[in-house]
Amino acid sequence: MSLRHFYDLAELPRGDVEDLVSRGRELARGAAAKRFPGRALGLLFLDPSLRTQASFQRAAGRLGLDLVQPAGGIWNLETDESAVMDGDKAEHVKEAAAVLGRYVDVLGVRSFAQGGAAGKGGDPDRLTRGFERYAGVPVINLESARFHPCQALADRLTLDSRELPQGGRFVLSWAWHPKSLPVAVPNSTLLMAAQRGMDVVLLRPDGYDLDADVMARASDLASKNGGRLRATSDRTAAMEDALVLYAKSWGCPLDRGDPAAEAVRRARLRDEWCVRESWFAGADGDAVFMHCLPVRRGVVVEADVLDSRRSIVIDQAENRLHAQTALLEALLTGLDSSPQRGHAAQDREDSR
Ligand code: CP
Repeated sequence: MSLRHFYDLAELPRGDVEDLVSRGRELARGAAAKRFPGRALGLLFLDPSLRTQASFQRAAGRLGLDLVQPAGGIWNLETDESAVMDGDKAEHVKEAAAVLGRYVDVLGVRSFAQGGAAGKGGDPDRLTRGFERYAGVPVINLESARFHPCQALADRLTLDSRELPQGGRFVLSWAWHPKSLPVAVPNSTLLMAAQRGMDVVLLRPDGYDLDADVMARASDLASKNGGRLRATSDRTAAMEDALVLYAKSWGCPLDRGDPAAEAVRRARLRDEWCVRESWFAGADGDAVFMHCLPVRRGVVVEADVLDSRRSIVIDQAENRLHAQTALLEALLTGLDSSPQRGHAAQDREDSR
């Protein structure tokens, strides 16, 4: 597998995703991880995290990696190539990325604040893309405004571990939330389920579609892999024989750039779009409930669903560890055999 950066899971060929999942399953069953003495993983969190941070820290330990994790905040970063930096940005991503790339062999970056669901114009992932461009080492997207590939890889591992049949119905449902949230998780979830060849249903209130380019890619992936994709606001039809209900909230694209209008639109949906047990009436008897976490009890989903045997949210979170250990193994193994090595590795080589 040749993996330069890990930005969007669905960019990888299905076979490569399956190789990562297969290795993740071995690791989950207790297989020993490879060790990479002298290598280092950098983690840069520009937005909060519990699972992503803790699972990468643990994965680094399993792989024998040094961990470089700037704490206490960093300078506000500029991404505009031609900026005269006389405003609030104290450092350009060009230098920040290049410096971190001298300290580590793989760099993870979380930055979903620029743009998010409410942003208008430009690439909302320009900071993550800037790190890819200038770090000189592989960059893992730890969640950007548009994609959360590590969550999607772990979710794919969770589906495969439960041996849920390809072609079974996978419902990705919008759920209510007090804030207008980014689209990274729903985008990556939709693409992951489509690439797995599932019967994917996007269940959402009218107006809450995902971006057209993501829908088109998901539709293409589904049909290439024996599945299908459709969007509906008809919950009864969507949930018929469903194997999975994956809940997530996201901001309405019709109100992008106008948070006040979005808040008014969203407020009307509160009671109808909190997941409850009655949603599963027509579903498969063993249908599962999934969510990436963190989740608001009694808001996104009723507590009795979250606490029931349907809920596999803790398995999803555990699988972050196994999936990311497999991912780091693949990236670092690729570095060992690639002429495109990071600066830090090259310097070590030069000094021998
Ligand atoms: N699901 C997820 O990415 O969790 P954190 O935001 O806690 O990392």
